[in-house]
Amino acid sequence: MPSIQVLIAKKFNNLQRPLQVHIDRTTVLASELAGIYGVDVDVCALAANSHDLFRSEPDFAQISAAEKYGIQIGKIEIKTPMLLHGPIAAAWLEQEGGVTDNRILDAVRWHTFGWPEMDVVGKVLFLADKLEPGKVNADPSLLPIRTMADEEPDKALLALLQKRSESQQELGMEIHPNTLALIEYLKSN
Ligand SMILES: [Fe+2]
Ligand SMILES: [Fe+2]
Repeated sequence: MPSIQVLIAKKFNNLQRPLQVHIDRTTVLASELAGIYGVDVDVCALAANSHDLFRSEPDFAQISAAEKYGIQIGKIEIKTPMLLHGPIAAAWLEQEGGVTDNRILDAVRWHTFGWPEMDVVGKVLFLADKLEPGKVNADPSLLPIRTMADEEPDKALLALLQKRSESQQELGMEIHPNTLALIEYLKSN
């Protein structure tokens, strides 16, 4: 069986350049944050490397991959099948890549929505994914949260989740129950 790095590289090489750049930037920031927070850099880098491998699949492919891997398709995901790309990447890592580390699988699975009681690998990936330089350049209002992430991950995470939820509500989008639960969890801690 090829190593997980080879499997990831094969998928990565077929992605469009902008997505590759985002994945690379996310991996660099995830490794930096892992160093700061004192968590395994290789674990965070692997999660970051693989989190968006299915991001650009068309809707029908998202649905069929979710069905293939037995992933539950909720009403939010039916409307926007792209939101299944995290759970699909996690199932792929586990079932095709033999990854057994739940820190990696959970971080990848929930990198779009978060989950209550998110662990530190999950926080590293979530923050790196949303705060890599390309994202901050596109939306400079993220800069204070990016700065906060170096010192206070939970505070940065809460600020980021609240900011994202507000914009989603303004667009009339439903907030995923996991995200709401994570916000409540962070507020109470
Ligand atoms: Fe993603
Ligand atoms: Fe991403």
